[in-house]
Amino acid sequence: MYKIVVLISGGGSNLQAIIDNIQSGNIKAEVSAVISNRADAFGLERAEKAGIDNHVLDHTVFGSRESFDQSLSQIIDSYEPDLIVLAGFMRILSDEFVEQFHGKMINIHPSLLPKYKGLNTHQRALESGDNEHGASVHFVIPELDAGTVIIQGVVPIEAKDTVDELQQRVHKVEHQIYPQAVKYLAEDGLSLKDGKLLYKDESLSEPFREQLK
Ligand code: GRF
Repeated sequence: MYKIVVLISGGGSNLQAIIDNIQSGNIKAEVSAVISNRADAFGLERAEKAGIDNHVLDHTVFGSRESFDQSLSQIIDSYEPDLIVLAGFMRILSDEFVEQFHGKMINIHPSLLPKYKGLNTHQRALESGDNEHGASVHFVIPELDAGTVIIQGVVPIEAKDTVDELQQRVHKVEHQIYPQAVKYLAEDGLSLKDGKLLYKDESLSEPFREQLK
């Protein structure tokens, strides 16, 4: 069975979308464990409810980023996962940690990368007068929000949108594309080769793209 470890810090609605797709039989994989750096993350309850092993690794009790990352990778390795999914995990990871999982770790970022790396993406998209926005699932590399993009979910921006409305719309499309990305990896063997997507023996020059359903 294709094994996934999910890292969270908060609500875990993307985690839930992945769990739902596995439970409904849409993705042939298992979430072996959920790890949160915050004890109060609601996503831990979602894991518990689904009968998934869950761990809290409180970053505030570690003396350095490296020592936290070392403990984190020990827990991850104990599950021998095929894939590590960052789903609202709000910690910067050390380069060593990231390189250890090269090609095996993915993240979701709330913008149409390479636009709006970093924070406040919804506000920045509104202020720029864009007419579309969205989210990107990408492989994780040491440089923040810069790894090869697997799939993008596109939402329209309406003239009267507030940051909250736009954020909710993007969150919806995230729940569509994150499970889809996991399915490509788990079932179709999508992989990262020389910085490019390799899908069914073909090198893709563009990420997959979906509109909000
Ligand atoms: C999402 O908006 C994602 O883009 C960002 O963190 C948020 C996680 O939300 N990386 P949730 O915890 O999955 O509900």
